Amino acid sequence: MSASSPSRPATSEPYSPDNLLDRVSRRSTLERQYAHMMARERALTQRRLGVQRGDVLSVGAGWHPGRHIFPSPEFRITAVDSDPAKVAGIRQTNAADAALVGVAGQLALPPASFDVVLYRLVLHHIAFQGPLTPCFTEAARLLRPGGALVAIEPGAWHPVGLGLALANRVGIAPAIHGTPDDVPLSPRRLLVEAHAAGLWPAELHAVTYTWRRLAPALQTALAPLDELGSRSRAAPFGHTLLLIARRTP
Ligand SMILES: C[S@@+](CC[C@H](N)C(=O)[O-])C[C@H]1O[C@@H](n2cnc3c(N)ncnc32)[C@H](O)[C@@H]1O
Repeated sequence: MSASSPSRPATSEPYSPDNLLDRVSRRSTLERQYAHMMARERALTQRRLGVQRGDVLSVGAGWHPGRHIFPSPEFRITAVDSDPAKVAGIRQTNAADAALVGVAGQLALPPASFDVVLYRLVLHHIAFQGPLTPCFTEAARLLRPGGALVAIEPGAWHPVGLGLALANRVGIAPAIHGTPDDVPLSPRRLLVEAHAAGLWPAELHAVTYTWRRLAPALQTALAPLDELGSRSRAAPFGHTLLLIARRTP
């Protein structure tokens, strides 16, 4: 169990669909970018992770525990979420092999029991609740030697991340995009947390430089930039970052 207690409830804040960006965004445009991101995440992990099979812990699994990255039967996914409704949904749809209610950083699971710990689009909510350090130290504890933490999160150094941080600071984020708890994460912070937890070496990639709210033609025009996402100078500026941080064998 983590000694630290979050300063806010350990779950995502309520989302208000009546917000500016959702009023002007088409579902089909968002879906297009989601599909592109999932393909990029799959390609990056297949190329760089070096774990071909095993046990995955997906923390903050929501409705999508990461099957697009970790296919069955090679990977057995245990989904954890602090929201019991999400866990019930995962159980109903068999989206994961097991599902548990639990809070990141406070999971009563045995040490060295997973080959991958996945945080996909959850650390940036947890950053609103309290420190990230318990999530990284927990991942280090739960990983087997040779395993890796994979984190996929919005980056703070992309123009959209900068805008989001500004909206958070001046208190208009719920009116702009429906929630106050999307905190873009600095690439440096992700690497520092991984290093401090002993998850090293670590590497960073940009999943994408495009944004789901952009017009489809603009998304298509910008998509080739994503091929630069693994270059060390370009990676930190991604809209969405992918961190791989290893527990040494
Ligand atoms: C944006 S969703 C991401 C879901 C999924 N990982 C995905 O990629 O689609 C964030 C999820 O994290 C969960 N969550 C938020 N804070 C959490 C915490 N402290 N511990 C565990 N789960 C948390 C929420 O309930 C929500 O299901």
